[in-house]
Amino acid sequence: MSVLSEELRDKIRAEFPKYPNKRAVTLPALHIVHDALREVSNESIVEIADLLELQPAEVHDTMSFYNFFKTPENPQGRNRVWFCRSISCMLRGGEELLENICEKYQVTPGHRTADGAITVEFAECLGACEGAPCMLVNDVCHMDMTPESAAELIDGL
Ligand code: FES
Repeated sequence: MSVLSEELRDKIRAEFPKYPNKRAVTLPALHIVHDALREVSNESIVEIADLLELQPAEVHDTMSFYNFFKTPENPQGRNRVWFCRSISCMLRGGEELLENICEKYQVTPGHRTADGAITVEFAECLGACEGAPCMLVNDVCHMDMTPESAAELIDGL
């Protein structure tokens, strides 16, 4: 039985005309699968490779270059919270935000909490330095965070 539904396969195929060749669709295909399944398993890699007429190792190489993609061994939580660790945020307390959240929720960056509610991640500059320190909660950037406001935000997820 396939891991990728026909709908997902169609979404990947819809990317083909946008790129010079199927190999160039590797990253978009990984994002499509990750968005839908919240992880990219080895089975998914094999099926993506088949669609793109590549070797599974080639898809895996692309995937493993980025820390973004979660696997069944390290699954994504229901929410993904990114803490900026670039210079402006670090100078304005970003490190303290991260430490506070990791301690409060007993989680290490790159992993999810035991209840699966959140995954904590490092991010490089979120492009909102004027509001440092920043964090991204799923797709929303929050600025001028304090350890208290960050914890309150995460408690509400
Ligand atoms: Fe954090 Fe730019 S350094 S948003």
